[in-house]
Formats: sequence, structure tokens, C-alpha cells
Amino acid sequence: MKVRRASVDDLAAWGRLRLQLWPEISPDELVDEQAAMQEAPDQFAVFLCEEDGSVSGFAEASLRQDYVNGCETSPVVFLEGIFVAPEYRRRGVARRLVAAVEDWAREIGVRELASDAELANTISHLMHRHLGFEETERVVYFRKEL
Ligand SMILES: CC(C)(COP(=O)(O)OP(=O)(O)OC[C@H]1O[C@@H](n2cnc3c(N)ncnc32)[C@H](O)[C@@H]1OP(=O)(O)O)[C@@H](O)C(=O)NCCC(=O)NCCS
Repeated sequence: MKVRRASVDDLAAWGRLRLQLWPEISPDELVDEQAAMQEAPDQFAVFLCEEDGSVSGFAEASLRQDYVNGCETSPVVFLEGIFVAPEYRRRGVARRLVAAVEDWAREIGVRELASDAELANTISHLMHRHLGFEETERVVYFRKEL
């Protein structure tokens, strides 16, 4: 099991996993988002886990300059997305991916790693707790059409 930063050669494999996590993304959005991340490596870091020639999971992280709920410093690194292919779960892939994000955050002088999860995604809540995150807040988003 090897965790490394994604390169342009990984766009297809990384994209296939992104679509499993966010199936609502259109093909154009997928390409645009990946390009934006690749073009700003100081702002975004993408890590892939590779096993036996297959990419088993990814983690995307960003450097957030704006206020992040529950954090005490700024900027912080935010875990924007993490996904492990079903057949590779419960073997420590997410643990390794989050450790790589933490290393990146420390390298760039950041002291807090933040994240979020849907209220119903209790497996993600367990993963966060088991990986050392503490819960800070629960929020409900609202919108009004104007
Ligand atoms: C959440 C997810 C990324 C975890 O990946 P994983 O590689 O299976 O996680 P790991 O094996 O590294 O486990 C990390 C910790 O989380 C806990 N954990 C992971 N899956 C769990 C489950 N199904 N039930 C209970 N605990 C679980 C483990 O106990 C582990 O802690 P431990 O090593 O101290 O026991 C994976 O289930 C997934 O991709 N889910 C769908 C996408 C998703 O929900 N992403 C998060 C969006 S916020």
C-alpha cells in the first residue's frame, strides 16, 4: 500500500473514484475541478492510495483562508473529500490518506485540520473520531430563492 500525491497521469483513475463519491458531478465539472486542483498545488493537495497497480482511494484537501467553523487558527487545512473503494475498506487506507494530509499541513505550517460529514454518514463520523478528530459543531444549511 503506497500513498502519494496525485499527478496528471492519475486523472482518469482519480476521476473514477470521485464519481463514486459525488455521482452528481457532470463530466465538465469533474474535469474543471481536477484541473483547478492540479494547477494550484499550494492551495490543494490530492493524495491517492495505490495497491497492486490499482488506485484504492483518494483524499482531497485545501488550504482555507476564510473562517472555518470550530477552528482557532487561520488558515487551516480542510479535508474536502475522502473515498475508499468498497473492496479496500477497513484495511487502513483512509488512515494512511489522512496521515498524508496531516503531513502536508504540517509542512506548510498549518496547525489545524478540519473536515465535515453529512449528519447521516455515521461511518464517516466514526472514521473521523478514530482518526483523532473531535466534533465541533452540527449545522443545518438554509437557502431562499431571491
Ligand atoms: C469512510 C471511509 C473513507 C473509511 O475508509 P477506510 O479505508 O475503510 O477506513 P480505515 O480502514 O482507514 O479506518 C479508519 C478508522 O475508521 C474506522 N472505521 C472505518 N470504517 C468503519 C466502519 N464501517 N465502522 C466502524 N468504524 C469504521 C475504523 O475503525 C478505523 O479506526 P481504527 O483503525 O482505530 O479501528 C470509507 O468507508 C468510504 O469511502 N466511505 C464512503 C465515502 C465517505 O463516506 N467518505 C467520507 C465523506 S465525509
